[in-house]
Amino acid sequence: MERLQKKIANLGYCSRRKAEELIINGEVLVNGEVVTKLGTTVNPGDIITVEGNILDNTKSYEYYLLNKPKGVVTTTNDEKGRKTVVDIIDTKTRIYPVGRLDYDTTGALILTNDGKLANLLMRPDSLVDKTYIVKVKGLVTIPDLQKLRKGVVIGDITTKRAKVKLKSFDKKKNTSIVEITIHEGKNHQIKKMFSSLGYEVIKLRREKYGNLDLKSLLVGEYRPLSIKEVKILYSLCKK
Ligand code: URA
Repeated sequence: MERLQKKIANLGYCSRRKAEELIINGEVLVNGEVVTKLGTTVNPGDIITVEGNILDNTKSYEYYLLNKPKGVVTTTNDEKGRKTVVDIIDTKTRIYPVGRLDYDTTGALILTNDGKLANLLMRPDSLVDKTYIVKVKGLVTIPDLQKLRKGVVIGDITTKRAKVKLKSFDKKKNTSIVEITIHEGKNHQIKKMFSSLGYEVIKLRREKYGNLDLKSLLVGEYRPLSIKEVKILYSLCKK
């Protein structure tokens, strides 16, 4: 037995919080009956309908790692008709990206229809490390590297501790390459972190997501995850 709001989130319909809202608003039916009580438990065979959609309670899961190219949007459907990350993956299953990479960012992106894993990975307090290689305009100073490590103010938050390494710099071109590992995932976090110190990001690649790296995947290529890799991702969420 599972709590209704958790089940709806786990089936990938929406977040648990949104599911709670839908339940309270009378948008959820279990075996044809409206359920408005949070915490109602459901059994595996129960038919759950949300906003008129019957959820597939029997589906199997698919997991992919994509090396996202530039010029592709991280969404399932773009209102401007641009190519999406989902268009790249050859599957009939309705998968969706876990989190976001900007239009001009490349690198590791997970796509799945496993709502439980997606929601765990996308939690704002996620502990799963994401490593980025960042090319910025300007020569990043040692004090600024230290500030990035300790946390900088972006909007109304101070970023958590990060691992930061200066990989190289080019005095002539006035650029630096920095490797940074964070576990939060605020919108445009990396660009905002550097911009808070006056550096413009000119290239951004996510090199690693938890246990997954881009080894053997060229930009635009993808591969299914192994069961072992999925289990490790789940275990990283619990640490
Ligand atoms: N941080 C950003 O600024 N952009 C991304 O695409 C990912 C992390």
